[in-house]
Amino acid sequence: MDQESIPKIRVPLASSGLEKEDIDAVLATLRSNALTMGARVREFEEEMATYLGAEHFVMMNSGSSANLAIIESLLRPTRGEPRLMPGDGVLLPAIAWPTTIWPVIQLGLQPVFVDIDPETIMIDLHSAEYAIRNSRTQIRAIFPIHPLGHAIDPHELQDFCARHDLVLISDVCEALGSWRGGLHAGMGSLAASFSFYFSHHITTMEGGGVATNDLALADDLRSIRSHGWSRDRSDAKQWTGVSNDVNSRFLFVSAGYNIRPMEIQAALGIGQIRRIDSYIDRRRHIASCVAKALRGSGLRLLCSDTLEFDRNSHSWMLLPIRAESKELAQSTLLALHNAGVETRPILTGNFTAQPSLSRILKSQVNPRDFVQADFVSESSFMVGCHHHFTDEQVQYLAESLKNAGAS
Ligand SMILES: Cc1ncc(COP(=O)(O)O)c(C=O)c1O
Repeated sequence: MDQESIPKIRVPLASSGLEKEDIDAVLATLRSNALTMGARVREFEEEMATYLGAEHFVMMNSGSSANLAIIESLLRPTRGEPRLMPGDGVLLPAIAWPTTIWPVIQLGLQPVFVDIDPETIMIDLHSAEYAIRNSRTQIRAIFPIHPLGHAIDPHELQDFCARHDLVLISDVCEALGSWRGGLHAGMGSLAASFSFYFSHHITTMEGGGVATNDLALADDLRSIRSHGWSRDRSDAKQWTGVSNDVNSRFLFVSAGYNIRPMEIQAALGIGQIRRIDSYIDRRRHIASCVAKALRGSGLRLLCSDTLEFDRNSHSWMLLPIRAESKELAQSTLLALHNAGVETRPILTGNFTAQPSLSRILKSQVNPRDFVQADFVSESSFMVGCHHHFTDEQVQYLAESLKNAGAS
């Protein structure tokens, strides 16, 4: 590439998202010697619970860990009957993130993949219905992803679960700040996972957590995140009497991992969750600019109707773009690459086509059964929508897309 053709503006998929006050908060935390999980994590958990309208929020070191902890808590609760048993089937969308799928498999449940709605990328409940009727596995749970900032209708999910007697858990790692039917995304579920990885709506560098309204589940999640011990539980004192010959500070009541967050992560989260509304406004503005620029071209922003009809339901993590043909999708990707606009597949594309899955599940899943997931993988891609993009970057992104879509 000669000097002339090197683009002056670049549009990455994500930016750091940190502001001066976030960095100051981290430095103050380090200077206070607060390193491992403590008061700041508790404060962030309270802020998150209030923001989401949840009874409890349990912070962890990533969204992936949050998914793992949810599955563990359903299989081996410290109180009451397990909600899931090994071998039970869990409905999962064919376009997914790997660590929504892996905990299900790793902890002995059966993934049952379901095609997605090609317009919304959400799990398609008609296909889910079909899977329930035709699967040889006893399906006991559904684990939908709220994709790219778009909340799934909680009442539709709850009705579906009531009809089929399913446990509802939600992966909301991409959809902080989206609301539908009066609830934050995922809050109609027994448990909902969140991620604060650096490309997300708020960032704690790495980080995540689980929201739930179920105190017993929240207590188990607190044990699971910290080696299985009882210390951080609301019912810690009751456990002390159970086993007199065990030191109460080293009393382990559940299976566990070490998936705790650090104080500096919480310090980053506290400031950002207070500013999140302005971030989401900016993201909606970027989505509007792109949707407008693409009118009349061979490209379109998926779900852009929410900008007009249901703004709150979409917090726009990244922008999913659909090309009217496979050829246009390919030429657009090349043109954007040359223009310095980063792109990527929609999540992982059709996850059932990943070699890791076929290697581990042997030939149980045929990727070609997921026609819509394949269609989305071939026709669609994502560009960035970060709230820290400058006006110049937003205009450049919109123009680059418009030019590519016109060719
Ligand atoms: C849908 C979904 N689930 C889970 C995760 C995992 O989150 P983390 O990167 O915090 O582990 C991601 C990551 O972006 C995701 O998109």
